Amino acid sequence: MAIQWSDNLSVSVAEIDEQHKIFIKLLNDIYKMTFTGSNQDEAAGLLKQLESYAAFHFATEEKYFDKFKYDRADEHKAEHRSLSNKIIQFKTRFVSEGAAVLPEIVDFMEDWLADHLEVQDKKYSKFFNDNGLV
Ligand SMILES: [Fe+2]
Ligand SMILES: [Fe+2]
Repeated sequence: MAIQWSDNLSVSVAEIDEQHKIFIKLLNDIYKMTFTGSNQDEAAGLLKQLESYAAFHFATEEKYFDKFKYDRADEHKAEHRSLSNKIIQFKTRFVSEGAAVLPEIVDFMEDWLADHLEVQDKKYSKFFNDNGLV
C-alpha cells in the first residue's frame, strides 16, 4: 500500500524531512506502477532512481554523522549499507523476473523505510538539533 508522510515521521531537521518525503514519493510512484501496468523501461528507470536517491540520502545523513561525530554512526551506516545491497539484489531480480517483482520491492521498501525512520533516524534528531542542525 502507499505510505503517507505525517508529522510523526519528522526527524526535526528540515533538509532531511524533505528528502524522506521524496523517498516516500518515489516508493509510491513504484507502488502505483504495480497496478497501472507500466512498461519495463519506466519501471527500470524508477528502480534506478530509487537506488541513486537512497545513496544520495544516506550520504547526507552520514555526512552529518561524521561532521558531528555521532556515536551511533556505525550501527546506522550498517543499516544503510544493507538496504543499498538489497536494492541491488532487487534490480537484478527485476532484470530476470520483470514487473512481477515490483510488489515485493514496494512491500519490503515501505516496511524498511517506516521502521528505519521511526527507529534509527529518530535517534539522531535531538543530537543533530543540539549541533545546530534544524
Ligand atoms: Fe533517513
Ligand atoms: Fe538513516
